Amino acid sequence: MSGIAVVTGASSGIGAEFCRMLDSRGLDGIWMVSRREDAMRTVSLDLSTPCRFFPLDLSTAEGRDSLASALSEESPEIEYLVNCAGLGRFGDSFSMDVGLTRSMIEVNVSSVVEATSACIPLMRPGSAVITLCSEAAYVPAYRLSVYSASKAFVRSYLDSLRYEVASRGISVLEVSPGWVKTPFIDGVKSSHDAPDAVFGYAVAPEDVVSKAMADLGRGRKRSVCGLRTRATIALATHFPRMASWVWHRLWG
Ligand SMILES: NC(=O)c1ccc[n+]([C@@H]2O[C@H](COP(=O)([O-])OP(=O)(O)OC[C@H]3O[C@@H](n4cnc5c(N)ncnc54)[C@H](OP(=O)(O)O)[C@@H]3O)[C@@H](O)[C@H]2O)c1
Repeated sequence: MSGIAVVTGASSGIGAEFCRMLDSRGLDGIWMVSRREDAMRTVSLDLSTPCRFFPLDLSTAEGRDSLASALSEESPEIEYLVNCAGLGRFGDSFSMDVGLTRSMIEVNVSSVVEATSACIPLMRPGSAVITLCSEAAYVPAYRLSVYSASKAFVRSYLDSLRYEVASRGISVLEVSPGWVKTPFIDGVKSSHDAPDAVFGYAVAPEDVVSKAMADLGRGRKRSVCGLRTRATIALATHFPRMASWVWHRLWG
């Protein structure tokens, strides 16, 4: 089977790493989506798969519509959709800039739903939707409340989407890491003086992506990298309020 991969958030971090990992899969092309074309071009220099660049702002309806229009006009066969674009900020939600809060919801939530809805009609049996969720989806996290709520939406959406697309033979993988060493962490810190210890145990993006691809191959529904994050998610799945309380006691 060959087709293309659509990767949002391809300019940096985990999305760029997915592009590198998918390069060996014999795809016809990778459609890279993010705001920074120069950064996507830099990532593509290491790839042998032909890349196309879609410099779009996914926090706007225009940006998301423009991706959906390009997909419906060209109707490429899509083997992988990787929803990686996302942002998070640390701080009390009520004192955060409203534009920032809005962007977090638009990119983390709306762009995932809209890109997925645009790609599914172009997918065949064996195709996969891979979406970056987070440990924060399981722990309602103090001073990350909008971010963790946005990821809880994504987790719930993926759990039901999986059944909607099962008869089409499309896999849906949730990727839920704890902290990952990418520029995302600088973004989280930029809004508030978050204690460095919060970011302890951060893993490498390569480890998150290679585990995700292995878990997809094994037919798993969720991919979690690292023992500590696996333990947190196991606890928080059953006791989310306790996990929230522990997080607050640790960092409050
Ligand atoms: N790093 C972590 O600790 C961590 C932990 C758990 C989950 N995650 C999730 O993993 C995903 C990838 O994060 P990362 O660690 O790879 O972060 P990153 O290195 O900061 O990459 C974020 C990507 O999202 C894109 N993006 C952000 N705002 C956008 C917008 N308005 N329009 C289009 N693209 C936009 C960025 O591209 P441009 O700036 O070029 O637009 C960039 O390519 C996110 O969904 C994040 O929530 C990260």
